[in-house]
Amino acid sequence: MPLESNVDIAPAQGKLGVLLPGMGAVGTTFIAGVLAIRKGLSKPIGSLTQMGTIRIGPRTDDNVPLIKDYAGLATLDDLVFGGWDVFEDDAYVAASRAGVLEGHLLEQLGEELRAIKPMKAVFEQSYVKNLHGDHVKPEMSKWDQAQALDDDINRFAEDNGCDRLVAVWCGSTEVYREASAVHQSIEAFEQGLKDSAPEIAPSQIYAYACLKRGIPYANGAPNLNLDTPALLELARRNQVPITGKDFKTGQTLMKTILAPGFKARMLGVEGWYSTNILGNRDGEILDDPESFKAKEMSKLGVLDTIFEPERNPDLYGDIHHVVRINYYPPRGDNKEGWDNIDIFGWLGYKMQIKVDFLCRDSILAAPLVLDLALFLDLAKRGGMSGVQEWLSFYWKSPQPVQEGVYPEHDIFIQLTKLKNTLRHLMGDDPVTHVGAEYYD
Ligand SMILES: NC(=O)c1ccc[n+]([C@@H]2O[C@H](COP(=O)([O-])OP(=O)(O)OC[C@H]3O[C@@H](n4cnc5c(N)ncnc54)[C@H](O)[C@@H]3O)[C@@H](O)[C@H]2O)c1
Repeated sequence: MPLESNVDIAPAQGKLGVLLPGMGAVGTTFIAGVLAIRKGLSKPIGSLTQMGTIRIGPRTDDNVPLIKDYAGLATLDDLVFGGWDVFEDDAYVAASRAGVLEGHLLEQLGEELRAIKPMKAVFEQSYVKNLHGDHVKPEMSKWDQAQALDDDINRFAEDNGCDRLVAVWCGSTEVYREASAVHQSIEAFEQGLKDSAPEIAPSQIYAYACLKRGIPYANGAPNLNLDTPALLELARRNQVPITGKDFKTGQTLMKTILAPGFKARMLGVEGWYSTNILGNRDGEILDDPESFKAKEMSKLGVLDTIFEPERNPDLYGDIHHVVRINYYPPRGDNKEGWDNIDIFGWLGYKMQIKVDFLCRDSILAAPLVLDLALFLDLAKRGGMSGVQEWLSFYWKSPQPVQEGVYPEHDIFIQLTKLKNTLRHLMGDDPVTHVGAEYYD
């Protein structure tokens, strides 16, 4: 649907339920973080919606509101949390197990976290080989699983007095699969659910259940999900905004910050070798080659659209781009992402850059879950549907807005697009940075 300007956006009144299929490290770090911020124990660092500002009009107007105020986003006090997991641990236990946040912080949030208990998961072992949990729905057809999720959502919304809902997949990375015949239309997908087609992944059943009810959906993992004709068609038909995929955090975040810089200065790149050591459950799951393949495809796609080797063959025509992830338990959630970049400058003289990012995966991902939930809710209140290209900012593998239109990976273009989309929605002029008015 066209992106209209000055749209009628329903106010963010009442409770916004945030549903998380997958309540592991990222999910619980997000929930605990919001609770801590609500209590005044910390600040929402890393969240564009909470800390970011947006300039409106010329620089001389000095009109730079906070994004959350400008766009009328739901407040943190309005959020309630729910979700599903294959482990029955409540959010306190799951957050403690994940080992991301310190015990003394979790203690202060204990009561609220303990009250958040995951619902039974829709799960299939063949899609996440290194995961073994028993908090799963009993044997039934995939169609019935989708109905059972719908019942869960109904109950959650009623019990928590939710006015609106959004969902962000924070579940494990499933094995790499390409779209098959059951993914080609809503009808084929629904028949596939009734036949319990093996090609339909659990993550797709969650997405289907949410889209069917008109719940905006984001896919935080790299596996096949919203990027199938069936689910895309369902989102459009039911007027639901969707966005994905694969949270842009540690190494890929650095890549999409650095690569546009090299390109801006017309510096060549001969090779980019990226390796990671990671010891959390995500790392264990990615130790399975099939899940790693989903992640690798997502991580490898980033450089091409930034460097455009076909337009810049002398600079980027022959890049050796390698990505590795090694499961290394001693590091837990504190990943080390190490990059060696072989670049070349004037007259082809070679240089090297080494980046060693000692990052915290879930600390980087949690604010993205918050922003995505709030922006998707805004999109829904503004009547937007289908792929929300303006949210590419958050993704390693942004879903194309339509076939044949390549997604932007350059984080600075993505941010400009996001802010200009907000201005457009609110009926203000985009900021073009031409600044013609100042030359008089
Ligand atoms: N942390 C980051 O920086 C980052 C960046 C990009 C993408 N991701 C992706 O986000 C996802 C979550 O990462 P994490 O570190 O929280 O992993 P995690 O292993 O700690 O949590 C994932 C949770 O999902 C649950 N789960 C798996 N399949 C499920 C299903 N079918 N239904 C319900 N629950 C299910 C698991 O039991 C687990 O508790 C992963 O797919 C990861 O690849 C994370």
